Amino acid sequence: MQLLVTGGAGFIGSNFVRHALNRWPDCRLTVLDKLTYSGNRANLADCEADGRMRFIKGDICDPVAVAGAIRNCSAVINFAAETHVDRSIRDSSDFVRTDIEGTRVLLEAARVNQVERYIQVSTDEVYGEIAHPARSSEHDVLRPRSPYAASKAGGDLMALAYHTTHGVPALIGRASNNFGPYQFPEKLIPLFITNALQEAPLPLYGDGRQERDWLAVEDHCVALSLLLERGEPGQIYNIGTGVERPNIDVAERILNLVGRPPSLIRHVTDRPGHDRRYALSCDKIRALGWSPRQDFDTALAETVQWYRSNDAWWRACRGDEFAAYYAQQYDQRLQDARA
Ligand SMILES: NC(=O)c1ccc[n+]([C@@H]2O[C@H](COP(=O)([O-])OP(=O)(O)OC[C@H]3O[C@@H](n4cnc5c(N)ncnc54)[C@H](O)[C@@H]3O)[C@@H](O)[C@H]2O)c1
Repeated sequence: MQLLVTGGAGFIGSNFVRHALNRWPDCRLTVLDKLTYSGNRANLADCEADGRMRFIKGDICDPVAVAGAIRNCSAVINFAAETHVDRSIRDSSDFVRTDIEGTRVLLEAARVNQVERYIQVSTDEVYGEIAHPARSSEHDVLRPRSPYAASKAGGDLMALAYHTTHGVPALIGRASNNFGPYQFPEKLIPLFITNALQEAPLPLYGDGRQERDWLAVEDHCVALSLLLERGEPGQIYNIGTGVERPNIDVAERILNLVGRPPSLIRHVTDRPGHDRRYALSCDKIRALGWSPRQDFDTALAETVQWYRSNDAWWRACRGDEFAAYYAQQYDQRLQDARA
């Protein structure tokens, strides 16, 4: 299989590249990545030594770059996106550009090159929040509530439209919140781990009772491989563990694993429009033979250990751009929390 992996230098994409090289001995991978603030070629350092992967720096919104990268590829998996909800609240323009227009450019290239599979990597956030005890299923109406989620929903709809109109063999995986190695430290779990390692406060939005289904990234990669092998074009597959946890519980577990006191938690002003709960029904992906293999506590402990062992990696991520973002996002909130 010759596979185009867009966004392969990001968190899930780089884990997927590693997984694919192990899973398919005969595969050839082309990674196309713009290397935005969250993309990092160092995430692929070990894979670059493997002659089966080549890296191209380029933008999925650029039809020329995409045409060059997709040549000879029989399948595409699209991880490339702007991905952080808080950044989409500050400025949504890059989200619309990459997550919708970039997806359209890729789908157009998939059509012209008659690829055999196109996987759109999407999120449970497109369904919006859902109250207990309901779960979102694949045929539910989309009710995205953040600019990030709305952009991802736009990409999903474009993929389905290209399947219906042009027969592009596109299918969608909608996963819950991922965690694991190489996650940029703006997201909740790596932010809290790296803050805890530095004995800095953990800014927890609102009452911390928002619930998320935490999926180990390795389990997500297995599910996506299965979709490439056996998923049905035109279909949507939810991917999650079926267990939701409040954010405050995750924060306390991280502090315990790092060996810091719960008093480091600061309840700060909530994110506007913060969804209280996501929960997925995952019968379709389970019917394909997938189930999550990673135990949450074990995978979280391994993730903490990975950040401990990769101090230089996350300190490089938390450079000047990150410091400016963090100050904008949290300084006032942390000051208000102290007052
Ligand atoms: N992280 C999660 O919990 C989660 C859950 C469900 C779905 N997803 C989806 O999975 C995908 C990957 O998420 P992630 O957490 O790895 O994100 P990430 O931010 O770590 O990585 C995104 C990657 O895309 C690249 N990129 C951004 N814009 C690009 C462009 N215009 N052209 C080419 N490359 C570009 C970046 O350089 C980066 O390498 C996204 O589509 C996201 O919506 C993420």
